Amino acid sequence: MRDLVRETHLLKDDLIMPVFVDANIKDRKEIPSMPGVYQFSLDAILDEIKVIVDKGIKAIILFGLPDHKDEVGTSAWEDDGIVQEAIRKIKKAYPDLIVIADTCLCEYTSTGHCGVVKDGVVLNDESLTYIVKTAVSQAKAGADIIAPSNAMDGYVAAIREGLDDNNFKNLPIMSYSIKYASSFYGPFRDAANSAPEFGDRKGYQMDPANRLDALREAASDVKEGADFLMVKPSMAFLDVMREVRDRFDLPLVAYNVSGEYAMIKAAAQNGWINENQIVRETLVGMKRAGADLIITYFAKDVADRINKGE
Ligand code: PBG
Ligand code: ZN
Repeated sequence: MRDLVRETHLLKDDLIMPVFVDANIKDRKEIPSMPGVYQFSLDAILDEIKVIVDKGIKAIILFGLPDHKDEVGTSAWEDDGIVQEAIRKIKKAYPDLIVIADTCLCEYTSTGHCGVVKDGVVLNDESLTYIVKTAVSQAKAGADIIAPSNAMDGYVAAIREGLDDNNFKNLPIMSYSIKYASSFYGPFRDAANSAPEFGDRKGYQMDPANRLDALREAASDVKEGADFLMVKPSMAFLDVMREVRDRFDLPLVAYNVSGEYAMIKAAAQNGWINENQIVRETLVGMKRAGADLIITYFAKDVADRINKGE
């Protein structure tokens, strides 16, 4: 009878699987702080996409590790950039899979910052120029959704204008609207080789202590033309998710980030927790808090269990 009266359901349609494509490796390489998550070469990427598609997952979000970096992140927007090549390859083989492009510079800049730096300061408006170039090049490669994660002021409006000017008027923007400056991103920065060389991201990511600030960020992104909102990280910010859900009517994405994944994996590997049950409880919690979609490194595992009827 519990099934009949259950209020919240976790579905395969809710899941977005992150995928790392790396120009510097052959085949695949496991990320040490994220057991079970791999970087893939361009040659190996379709093997992984096949696994994802066969499980019934409908969307991925792509991150790239380029073979060269410079101060302005040129390799983020080159036509033959690693992400652009991967998008073309994936969309050609799997036209129905939704390919979301993470749009940022931190994997591509020599400083590891999400924008350009001058005299030790990250410049907001100058950075937008390069973020827009990156979004447009990803759109040209065939991305279905642009997901800017650089989180600087005015980035949604700038990208919307850039996409519109290049005849991508219908391409949606999934904004990393509410992105806290968080230690939960630690393992990702290993995975994407994107740790800042100096300083931190507090100039453009939010203070975890702030709730009203989150509502302001969501409101400004809505005004600037965002098509999806996001709260990131998830587990420590479920209250924020609920409030955003109640106040805004755009689809809401929860990003179940790398540190959240690593903690559960580590405890499970020690035999201290039941991984399957903890993962389900965690993701159902995000949906109960109002999330419509969940970006999660557990997506393949969850799909497996749903396929088994669990
Ligand atoms: C890049 C980006 C980050 C994440 C997604 N895109 C890291 C950061 O801002 O430092 C984090 C994802 C994760 O931890 O799983 N801007
Ligand atoms: Zn970044």
